Amino acid sequence: MIEFAVNGRRVSVDVEPDTPLLWVIRDDVGLTGTKFGCGIGMCGACTVLVGGRATRSCITPIADVAGTEITTIEGLSPHGDHPVQVAWRNISVPQCGYCQSGQIMQAVALLKDIPTPTDDDIDAVMTGNLCRCMTYNRIRKAVHEASQAMMGEKNSG
Ligand code: FES
Ligand code: FES
Repeated sequence: MIEFAVNGRRVSVDVEPDTPLLWVIRDDVGLTGTKFGCGIGMCGACTVLVGGRATRSCITPIADVAGTEITTIEGLSPHGDHPVQVAWRNISVPQCGYCQSGQIMQAVALLKDIPTPTDDDIDAVMTGNLCRCMTYNRIRKAVHEASQAMMGEKNSG
């Protein structure tokens, strides 16, 4: 049995140690917001946070996350109102939407590391998250908006 936590809930699964985390999240834990894109760590659709770090779940063996805390798109906030999600909605970032949970999780990790990123910071970090619908300009705008909202929250709190 391999144990870890997903969105604050303790989970234990009985799977082969090299099973990709993505399949465990989707098939065993039943959270399907995290998407399969390339399966080789190249597109970012499967991005989740492992111990707060953006991680490609398609190439992460489940054995490597034993004992860790994992956050998926479903666990970012109880009502979908994390500042990054709010900014994404305000700016209507998604087109088909397929890449977007990975984009949002990557953006959350970015803002944790760099609370007020420049365009170059955003491009450098988000470049590994591919979007076939070319929503990159809106992603950049939304990251800036989320950054401002989070800084405002911080200054008022
Ligand atoms: S599905 Fe994981 S990086 Fe593409
Ligand atoms: S919104 Fe369609 S792939 Fe990104």
